[in-house]
Amino acid sequence: MVQFTLPANSKVSEGRTWPACGGGINDKTFKVYRWNPDDQENPRVDSYEIDLAECGPMVLDALIKIKNEIDPTLTFRRSCREGICGSCAMNIDGTNTLACIQPIVGVKSDVKVYPLPHLPVIKDLVPDLTQALAQYALIEPWLKTVTPAPERERLQSPEDRAKLDGLEDCILCFCCTTSCPGYWWNGDRYLGPAVLLQAFRWIADSRDEATGERLDQLEDSFRLYRCHTIMNCAVSCPKHLNPARAIAEIKRLMVMRRGY
Ligand code: SF4
Ligand code: SF4
Ligand code: FES
Repeated sequence: MVQFTLPANSKVSEGRTWPACGGGINDKTFKVYRWNPDDQENPRVDSYEIDLAECGPMVLDALIKIKNEIDPTLTFRRSCREGICGSCAMNIDGTNTLACIQPIVGVKSDVKVYPLPHLPVIKDLVPDLTQALAQYALIEPWLKTVTPAPERERLQSPEDRAKLDGLEDCILCFCCTTSCPGYWWNGDRYLGPAVLLQAFRWIADSRDEATGERLDQLEDSFRLYRCHTIMNCAVSCPKHLNPARAIAEIKRLMVMRRGY
């Protein structure tokens, strides 16, 4: 039966407030989603007041400061702090982005920090990427060849290499996928913009010799065709990539190989 109300354990309550020690004019409040699978309690939003004079410039700096100096139980992913590993992807002030390249001053009021939307949460700001990564594995993201390997590397002209610009820069942060309505509704069967952009990255690679096989894998009413060109993906990508364009290119190749 259709359920019209949220389950009781999905209601988010107001949590604890952690005031800044100094009480200075540079204080900024961070409202951070908290949920611990071990304590059987509903999610809550804790408020942390931070003196920006004592903090680095990015939202990730504030989260690290909270964890190191205020509340060590706060859980989130991060690694490179340079916008290249994709692990600090989260929803900040209503937008999916990377916490390490989101300036705190870019958020006018309180900084609201939530996990990436429409994914199960493992703990606090850590989403469960199991499904998305399984979908990534499905497209077999490596060079596939049938011709014998040359003595040295497989060469590529500068023009062919340029075709990978805007594709190989994807850091698999899944900001796009989790902002895509098509993925919200059919995430179990639609591959979503991040994985489809990656699929096109290998289709577009002049050295790859499995284009037909790759297109066969995607020729499916759900895997590819649940994209309705709503373009949230391109808007949300923190690397300024355009997964919708890659998806359109795959669809164009599908049409071309049918001889239209
Ligand atoms: S363009 Fe396609 S992939 Fe991108 S957000 Fe819209 S439906 Fe999703
Ligand atoms: S296309 Fe952009 S938003 Fe999507 S996974 Fe790649 S880098 Fe992240
Ligand atoms: S920590 Fe690597 S992208 Fe943010």
